[in-house]
Amino acid sequence: MTVQAQEIVRAHLAGTGEQPELTEDQRSLYRQRIKQRLQERDAVLVAHYYTDPEIQALAEETGGCVADSLEMARFGRDHPASTLIVEGVRFMGETAKILSPEKRVFMPTLEATCSLDIGCPEDDFAAFCDQHPDRTVVVYANTSAAVKARADWVVTSSIAVELIEHLDQRGEKILWAPDKHLGSYVRDKTGADVLCWDGACIVHEEFKAQGLLDLKAAHPGAAVLVHPESPASVVEIADVVGSTSQLIKAATEMGNDTFIVATDKGIFYKMQQLAPNKTFVEAPTGGSGAQCRSCAHCPWMAMNGLENTLAVLEDDNGRGQEIFVDPTLAEQAMKPLDRMLDFGARLKG
Ligand code: 13P
Ligand code: SF4
Repeated sequence: MTVQAQEIVRAHLAGTGEQPELTEDQRSLYRQRIKQRLQERDAVLVAHYYTDPEIQALAEETGGCVADSLEMARFGRDHPASTLIVEGVRFMGETAKILSPEKRVFMPTLEATCSLDIGCPEDDFAAFCDQHPDRTVVVYANTSAAVKARADWVVTSSIAVELIEHLDQRGEKILWAPDKHLGSYVRDKTGADVLCWDGACIVHEEFKAQGLLDLKAAHPGAAVLVHPESPASVVEIADVVGSTSQLIKAATEMGNDTFIVATDKGIFYKMQQLAPNKTFVEAPTGGSGAQCRSCAHCPWMAMNGLENTLAVLEDDNGRGQEIFVDPTLAEQAMKPLDRMLDFGARLKG
């Protein structure tokens, strides 16, 4: 990440905070009222695996979804509700709005951003693309609408390897942004010509290879599950590398009793739910050179709570936390997003 991007991330982090502690009675009241307001507002919760377990449980109980970023996009587009409440980070809300311009899309807070998005400003990115006109531009979903508007393809980690393989077979050279770790992972897996932007996720970048090796030695029967936004030295140790949904699938299908997991710890809710008899251990973020800015929990995902979810639903006319995307940008960004969803659907089918 550039020094400038690092400073912006630091400033954002100083302003973030976890949701206030609520008593059990308060939480129960909030949950009831949210359920009621979702019905009254014809709204549905679309939540990511990294959000608070309470938010994930509520999304499940109310007919919403808890998913990875690809499935969140598809679910939001295809669900008949007129209002989407996106529990995640800003790019997820923007993607939902671009794919469903006729729906109202809200987030508990518009402050919930992502270090990959911050680290890829549209003007600098446009200049980078202009320097490499011969390359097919593939951007990760964790980007602004303006950056997507400049892309040929949008991609998430669940289909990144397959897409780059497909483009490579067509003889295309790739310009990849913004995550350098995921970019180098797909380059290694496919052998494609991939030129990477210098961005990183502040959560996954903290996982440490030596600490992971030590932990693996302490749990000899454990399988190591790693999200590909992690550094190559950590990816190398993994038994399975994959998107959030692929890691959850591995945790449920593999025969091991214990799993060491290198991704945001919000994912443990779903893993434990689907594999209640297995043990899940957090991969280490400490050790030499560690800063532990996030300690394996995305500070922006943590901004989604019961209180601000209810506040959005109570405010009938309010537009404070509503997502709007410039219609021209949205129209341009829709094309690479549609390609992503079509490609994902073809892989599934
Ligand atoms: P997934 O696409 O795997 O859900 O990842 C999104 C994300 O932000 C990971 O940090
Ligand atoms: Fe962005 Fe990393 Fe948070 Fe995912 S975990 S939203 S990539 S900062």
